Amino acid sequence: MYTASFLSDPDFIRVLYIFAFGCFIYGLHLLNHPRSARRGNIVAAVGMAIAVVATLLYDFVGDYLLIVLGIGLGTAVGVPAARSVKMTAMPQMVALFNGVGGGAVALISFVEYREALEHTGGNPVLEQLIPILFAGIVGSISFWGSNIAFGKLQEILPGRPIQLPGQKFINLGLLATAVGCAIAIAAGTESQGLFLVILVSAAVLGNMFVLPIGGADMPVVISLLNAFTGLSAAAAGMALDNVALIVAGMLVGASGSILTKQMAEAMNRSIANIFAGGFGGVSVTPGADGDGEQKPVRSTDAADVAIQLAYASKVVVAPGYGMAVAQAQHTVRELADELEKRGIRVDFAIHPVAGRMPGHMNVLLAEADVPYDHLKEMDEINPEFAQTDVALVIGANDVTNPAARENEGSPIYGMPILDVDKAAQVIVLKRSMNTGFAGIDNPLFYNENTALLFGDAKESVAAVLSAVKEL
Ligand code: TAP
Repeated sequence: MYTASFLSDPDFIRVLYIFAFGCFIYGLHLLNHPRSARRGNIVAAVGMAIAVVATLLYDFVGDYLLIVLGIGLGTAVGVPAARSVKMTAMPQMVALFNGVGGGAVALISFVEYREALEHTGGNPVLEQLIPILFAGIVGSISFWGSNIAFGKLQEILPGRPIQLPGQKFINLGLLATAVGCAIAIAAGTESQGLFLVILVSAAVLGNMFVLPIGGADMPVVISLLNAFTGLSAAAAGMALDNVALIVAGMLVGASGSILTKQMAEAMNRSIANIFAGGFGGVSVTPGADGDGEQKPVRSTDAADVAIQLAYASKVVVAPGYGMAVAQAQHTVRELADELEKRGIRVDFAIHPVAGRMPGHMNVLLAEADVPYDHLKEMDEINPEFAQTDVALVIGANDVTNPAARENEGSPIYGMPILDVDKAAQVIVLKRSMNTGFAGIDNPLFYNENTALLFGDAKESVAAVLSAVKEL
C-alpha cells in the first residue's frame, strides 16, 4: 500500500521526469559526433522509456488495457518497419513517424477540448484553450503535410511540384478559416463542430502546403514538419499539464528548427525559397554548352583507375547520393583498406548535404566501419585538395560542382562545395551524364584532369578493388 502511494507520489514522478530530461539532453549532445551518435540514441530512448513509465504511474492515467493495446500495436508496426527500412528510404520513414506524432497531437487536442467543455460546464478557461487550439492546428498540418512528403519520397505521388491556380490564396484562405474558428472558440463559442472545421481546414492546408514543393526538397520539409510536431506536442503538454511532454516537445521543436536552418544554409537557399517550391525541376542537357554543342568528357576504365590510385600517396574519396543508392559503402571501405595497406593515405570528404538527409554519408560510412578520424568535414578537407593526388568522387555531383563557386548565374551559386577539382587527378564514378538533384550540368566533368568511370558505383568500385589487388 505504502509502495503504491510512494510510486504515484507526484514528487517522485517529477524526479523521474527530471532524470528523463537529463537523458534527452545528454542524448542530443551525443548526437554531435558519429562515434557517440548510436549511444546518444540509446540514452534518449532510455529517457523516453522512463518518462512513459513515470506517466503511467499517475493515478488518473486512464484505461490500462487501451494503453497496452496502443503500445502493442505501435510496437508491432514500428519495430519491423524500422528494422527492414533501407538507408535510402530513411527520409520517408522519418516523415511517416513524424506525421503520426502530429496526428496523435491533433486527436489529443480534440479529446482535451471535449473534456474541458465537460469539466467546466461549457466554459473552459483561455489558458487551457489556447494550447489546445494551437496543438489542433499545428498537429493536423504536420500529420497531413508529412503524409504528402512520405508519398512523394516513396514515389506514390509524383515528385514534381503540384500547384493549383491561385494556390497561395487558397492556402491563405485555409489558414484564415482555421485561425478564425480558433479565435471564435477562444472568444467563448462552445462548438465541437467548429473544432472539427479547424482540424479539417488545417488538414487541407497541410496537403496544399507540401504538394507544390519538389520531391527532392522533402528532407528540409520533413525537418520543418518535425519541428511543427514538436511544438504542437509541447502545446498538448500544456493542455494536459504534463511537464514531460512540454520539455520533449520543445526539444524536438528547437532541434528541428535548427536542423531546417542548417540544411537550408548548406544548400545556400533561404527557407522561403524552398517553400516557394519548384527547385530541382530545372533540367539542363548535360554536356551542352551555351550554343547547345556537346562538350567532350574523358572516360576511363577500372584498370587505369587502379594504377592511378596505387601510385598515389594521398587519395580523398568524395561520396554522394549515388554511393547510397548503389549501397557501395562496404566495397569503398575495402578499397580504402587495400590502399592504406600500401601506405596510401585515404580520407573521406563529407559535405553537409551530400546525399538526401542530414548526416547521410556519416551514417553509411560508419555502418561500413570507416575509421572516424578518416572522415573529414568540408572546411577541414578543402585546403587539402591542392596536395591530393587523386580525388575519387563516388556518386556525388552537385556537392562537387565548381559552378557554385564560379558561375554567378548558376542556381547553386554560393553553395559551399568540396573543392575536388583542385586535386591533381579527379575520377568521377557515375552511371551516365545525368544531372544530380539540382538538375544542372557540372563543369567538373569536362576538366582536363577529370576522368569518368561509368557504371553502378558498387560494381565500379569492386572492379577497381580487384584491379588494385592484381597490381
Ligand atoms: P546529387 O547531386 O544528387 O548526385 C548524385 C549522383 O549520383 C548523380 O549524378 C547520379 O548520376 C549518381 N548516381 C545515382 N545512382 C548511382 C549509382 N547506382 N551508381 C553510381 N552513381 C549513381 O548528389 P550529391 O552530390 O550527394 O548532392 C546532394 C544533393 O541533394 C544536393 O544538391 C543537396 O542540396 C540535395 N539535398 C540534400 C539534402 C541533405 S540533408 N543531404 C536534403 C535535400 C536536398 P547518374 O544518374 O549518372 O548515375
